[in-house]
Amino acid sequence: MTESQAAKKPILLSGIQPSGHLALGNYVGAMRNWVNLQQDYLGIFIVVDLHAITVRQKPADLRKRCLSFAAQYLAAGIDPAENIIFIQSHVPQHAELSWVLNCYTYMGELNRMTQFKDKSQRHQDNINAGLYTYPALMAADILLYQADLVPVGADQKQHLELTRDIANRFNHTYSPTFKIPEPFIPQAGARIMSLQEPDKKMSKSDSNENNYIALLDPPDVLRRKIKRAVTDSAREITPESVNNAGIGNLLTIYSVLNDQTLAAVADQFAGQQYSVLKGELADSLVGFLEPFQQRYDQIMGEQGYLSSILDEGAQRARYMASRTLSKVYRKIGFVAPGRNR
Ligand code: TYM
Repeated sequence: MTESQAAKKPILLSGIQPSGHLALGNYVGAMRNWVNLQQDYLGIFIVVDLHAITVRQKPADLRKRCLSFAAQYLAAGIDPAENIIFIQSHVPQHAELSWVLNCYTYMGELNRMTQFKDKSQRHQDNINAGLYTYPALMAADILLYQADLVPVGADQKQHLELTRDIANRFNHTYSPTFKIPEPFIPQAGARIMSLQEPDKKMSKSDSNENNYIALLDPPDVLRRKIKRAVTDSAREITPESVNNAGIGNLLTIYSVLNDQTLAAVADQFAGQQYSVLKGELADSLVGFLEPFQQRYDQIMGEQGYLSSILDEGAQRARYMASRTLSKVYRKIGFVAPGRNR
């Protein structure tokens, strides 16, 4: 796609933190919609490594994971010829705008962020300032590219609302500078739950690997994790099962993978044992993830190809981001470099 063709399309933007193992929750809540929406937008898909260091990461693992996540974006079906894929730290404007936006974000707003409250409980030995101000970095990620639509899971809704508030505040203080982005949160699958503790969301960095399905789990592991998923003491599926945390979650995953409504799936399995649903769900997952994993292996085998996509993505991103950043600097009263030469 040429720059002028790309410039005509509205912008779709999203990102995932390279922490843990890319999981089914991330696919269903976010990536699946990136793939489905990419046709009508210019997609910008970021591996947000600056976000990942709000929690301690092993350097060698982080390095590998960034490339692995980018390859998984491609394996999921993002077309690199039509979209921009890059690693966040390759585009310095994210850190630069984030500093500016920190100065337009109130502590009262950050104090309300539920993800900060959750994460600071889980990482009590490392409640760092980055973890606290991270929503301003996420706002920078989005606002730098004048994004129209941001497909995310339900847990990011609050951050998106804050992004909109920050953008409106800046626009009103100066003059229209940022596009106000719309969230895209799917009707089905916006919050996939943990397999062992279905009252909490499935998390890619859960310390118990039985809580999540990793997109790279081999078939025997996928089958074992589904088989062991926690349900309740009833054995048979009824129309009310959709409201049950554990079995409702499995029905939701099945419905999304098979493009059916939740009600239709509950009808289809009504009167069947839980084990029947688990067996069919495991088949659907293996059927979906095997070709995904083959594409992934192929992409990881061509590191030169992957690097060239990421380099080109970063180059295009830097160009777009620098245009917004210079506008911002001008509006707040920074002197343009080289002005008096
Ligand atoms: P992260 O890395 O925690 O999650 C990546 C995406 O997956 C979604 N998600 C889920 N959806 C459904 N069910 C689940 N159990 C589940 N778990 C995670 C998340 O909602 C998210 O869409 N701050 C973001 C990353 C980010 C970003 C951005 C997103 C940074 N900059 C700009 C959009 C635009 C995060 O930590 O997501």
